[in-house]
Amino acid sequence: MVAEAAAEEDRSGAALKRPREEGDGGDLPELELRTYRPQRILGQGSFGKVYQACVLETGDTVAIKSIGIKALPGQCFQQLSGRNDREVQILKELSGHPNIVCLKGAFLSGVDGTEPKLNLVLEFLSDTLHRVLKHYNQMSQMMEHRYVRLYQYQLLRGLAYAHGKGIVHIDIKPQNLLLDGGSHTLKICDWGTARRMTLGGQAAAYACSRYYRAPELILGATSYTSAVDLWSAGCVFAEMLIGQPLFTGADGIKQLVEIIKVLGTPSALDLRAMNPNYPSYEFAPAVSPQPWERVLRGFAPREANELAEMLLKYDPAARLQPIQALMHRFFDALRIAEQPDHLTLFNFLHGELDWCTQQERERLIPRWYLVKHSPSTKSR
Ligand SMILES: Nc1ncnc2c1ncn2[C@@H]1O[C@H](COP(=O)(O)OP(=O)(O)OP(=O)(O)O)[C@@H](O)[C@H]1O
Ligand SMILES: [Mg+2]
Repeated sequence: MVAEAAAEEDRSGAALKRPREEGDGGDLPELELRTYRPQRILGQGSFGKVYQACVLETGDTVAIKSIGIKALPGQCFQQLSGRNDREVQILKELSGHPNIVCLKGAFLSGVDGTEPKLNLVLEFLSDTLHRVLKHYNQMSQMMEHRYVRLYQYQLLRGLAYAHGKGIVHIDIKPQNLLLDGGSHTLKICDWGTARRMTLGGQAAAYACSRYYRAPELILGATSYTSAVDLWSAGCVFAEMLIGQPLFTGADGIKQLVEIIKVLGTPSALDLRAMNPNYPSYEFAPAVSPQPWERVLRGFAPREANELAEMLLKYDPAARLQPIQALMHRFFDALRIAEQPDHLTLFNFLHGELDWCTQQERERLIPRWYLVKHSPSTKSR
C-alpha cells in the first residue's frame, strides 16, 4: 500500500512511487504518475487513515485518505461497490465547488497483497473547525462573530450545492469541516456516509455523530431527507457561538432529552412529522421551549438567534432550506461592502442558483461584486 508503506518509510527518508495498476483510475479524475511522501497522520478511524503527503514531483501537499477494502487480486475501480465506491462517486460529482473538498484522483494499492486499500488523493487544508474551536477553548476565548458568519455561510453554501444535486452528507460535524487558516475557506469533507436522496431512502438510526444527530433519526425514522444536514448545521452554528456543543447526550435517548430541554416537548404534529411510524407517546412532564437568546447565552446577535431557531426545528420540513438560509439577514454583513476575504463567497457556479428567482439572485450577489465582475469591467 503506497501511503501506508511510505508512512513507514518516511522515517528512513525514502519515498514510494504510486504504482500504476491494471485498470486503475479508469472511471476517476485523471491522476498522473506521482510519488507521495507521507509526512504525518491527520486522522485515523475504523476505515483506515488520512495522511498529509508531499508530492515529490511538484512539491505540492495533499491529503491521502487510505481506506481498507475487500478486494480480489487484479480488481479494478469499476468493480468497487458500496461505501468505497460511493465516496469516490459523490466526491467526483461535487468536486469543483469552493466549499467541498476537492478529489484530485484515486488509486488502488495492495490489491494483490493482504491489505488492499483505496486511496483518495484530496486537496490538503491546514485545519478543521473542530481543532479551531478547541484552540479557542484552550485560550478561554470565543470565536469572533465575523468568523462564525464566514464559516456558517460556507457550510450552508456547500450543503445547498450537494442537496441541489440530491446528495445528503449525513455526518456534518466540526471534525468534517476543513478550514484554511489563511483564507478562512471552509470545505466539507468525509462523504463516506453520504447518500443519494431517493424517495423513501433508508438511513440507519445511528447515522450521524450523536451530538449532531437530527431528532427524527433518534426517533428511529428510517426514511430521511436532506433536513438531517440542516439540523447538524444548526448544531455546528450554535457550537461556534457558545464555544461548546449545544446538545450533549450520553446516549441516543439522553440526546433527545437535551434537545427537549431547549426546544420544549415536541407536539403530536412534530412527532408525526419526525416519524409517522412512531407509536403515539406522551412526553411527561411537558417542558416549555427556551428563548434562543438564553440558549445562546446572550453571546449572539439577534439575527443569529433567529437563524439558529430556523434551522433547529423538530419538523424536518420546517427547517430553513440552505439557499434560503444564505439569504438570511445574519449574512448581510458579508455582502454589505467589498472585502478581500469575501470575494470567494459569491463566485456561484453555473447552475448553483438554478432554483432561485431573479430577486433571490439579486439578494445573494451583492451589487459591488457584480460591478467588479461584470464582463465590461473585466475587459477594461
Ligand atoms: N483534505 C484534507 N485535508 C486535511 N485534513 C484532512 C483532509 N481530509 C481529512 N482530513 C483529516 O482527517 C480526519 C478524518 O478524515 P475523514 O473525516 O474523511 O475520515 P473519517 O471520519 O475517519 O472517515 P469515515 O467517516 O469515512 O469513516 C478529518 O477529521 C480531518 O482531521
Ligand atoms: Mg470524519
